[in-house]
Amino acid sequence: MRDLENTTLTSKEEAARQYIFIEKAKEYVAKKEQEMGRKLTFCVQTFGCQMNARDSEKLVGILEQVGYVEVEDEHADFVIYNTCTVRENANNKVYGRLGYLSNYKKKNPHMMIALCGCMMQEPTVVETIRKKYKFVNLVFGTHNIYKFAELLCNTLESDSQIIDIWEDTDKIVEDLPIKRKFSFKSGVNIMFGCNNFCSYCIVPYVRGRERSRQPQDIIREIENLVADGVCEIMLLGQNVNSYGKNLENPMTFAELLREINKIEGLKRIRFMTSHPKDLSDELIYAMRDCEKVCRHMHLPLQSGSSRILKEMNRHYDKEQYLAIVDKLRKEIPDIALTTDIIVGFPGETEEDFLETLDVVQRVEYDSAFTFIYSKRTGTPAAAMENQVPEAEVKCHFDRLLREVQEISTKKSMALEGKTMPVLVEEMNEHDASLVTGRLDNNSVVHFPGTEDMIGNIYQVKLEECKGFYYIGKVVDHE
Ligand code: 5AD
Ligand code: SF4
Repeated sequence: MRDLENTTLTSKEEAARQYIFIEKAKEYVAKKEQEMGRKLTFCVQTFGCQMNARDSEKLVGILEQVGYVEVEDEHADFVIYNTCTVRENANNKVYGRLGYLSNYKKKNPHMMIALCGCMMQEPTVVETIRKKYKFVNLVFGTHNIYKFAELLCNTLESDSQIIDIWEDTDKIVEDLPIKRKFSFKSGVNIMFGCNNFCSYCIVPYVRGRERSRQPQDIIREIENLVADGVCEIMLLGQNVNSYGKNLENPMTFAELLREINKIEGLKRIRFMTSHPKDLSDELIYAMRDCEKVCRHMHLPLQSGSSRILKEMNRHYDKEQYLAIVDKLRKEIPDIALTTDIIVGFPGETEEDFLETLDVVQRVEYDSAFTFIYSKRTGTPAAAMENQVPEAEVKCHFDRLLREVQEISTKKSMALEGKTMPVLVEEMNEHDASLVTGRLDNNSVVHFPGTEDMIGNIYQVKLEECKGFYYIGKVVDHE
């Protein structure tokens, strides 16, 4: 594995260099097309979070530019798995799929397989691929994804397995092709990496240190997206609340939000993920004041026990977390709150678990992602001796899930009859007389409408709650 890859090229020069590889790859692909008498196909499968989803759009952008055509499933000439490693089962899924792919490749030897993403940043994984999955053509990581065009050329030229993983990078390369999955909404990276080192989490090891993009680059990207029909953006970072700290001219996330809020034509701003320890009053006020920012905050709790939070290295305790929630609700009364919770962290007792349940009951989350603790080799928590027995974890997990679901049903039922802003995203898949949109809190609403409504916000009365979605009626156009 190479250390910090520090070429002398500036980001602009590097992007220009990649465009040369794009041209070269185009020639290879055109030649292969002629040989085969048909277009070459590709399939990118994404595991994990929004960050990975955005990275996949970058891969697709380049593949389409060089002449590949996207297909739905893995019966393709080029299959790429963009992997996640946040929990062990994410890794197992990839190995399982590779087993299946190896059979397919035996029958179609010309096909190419690439692996990238967080899992590839783990040296033991790469060793396994090198030894046991020799049929994989290309392996690269999270730091050199901008080099994909170059790696693609190398792979098209070579018969042996290519592995290129960097340990970290300080480079952010802008302006490479991207193909959005949705026409009306898009993720926008504002920062990469994470400096928090929560004791259970592998992300800082696989995504490297925090690096923020320049605000003017972010704003330019959003303006271009808006010009291209995007009305909703999701600002992405592992810890958006610490955005801008390391910039030459430091800027806070709250200041960035206020700037983005001014962009004409943009309708909605979301962001993900916030760390409670860095959630400032300034950000709460910015959310309150910026009409385009969705009244929704994803605020991972992880545990309600102050003792466990300390062991997790989260830098806040139960009381501080609840105080933030109070402040958020005071300034933005209708805010939707969602969270992540881990059950079964080493040493977690019944008492600790009850503290978590207590926070869940007090906060009443609109929804919560609940995870069973997964031991990630290399993290401090993996070395802790008091791992919790599986049966106990399972029992706690089930209790938590029941509680979370009950509250979330109650919360969605409580919106029945209310009139709320809905951004229309698409025509309803099953009924041509309906359109489908989303509330600030991301819940889906179906209501009578026409195609020209797509991309606009309407005041919609939520007439009936059907569990995960609502049936509504337009009351007013915003
Ligand atoms: N085990 C279980 N869940 C984890 N997460 C991160 N690391 C682990 C782990 N080792 C969860 C956290 C985080 C979400 C993205 O994944 O809740 O917020
Ligand atoms: Fe996303 Fe983290 Fe999974 Fe990487 S490890 S894909 S950053 S959730």
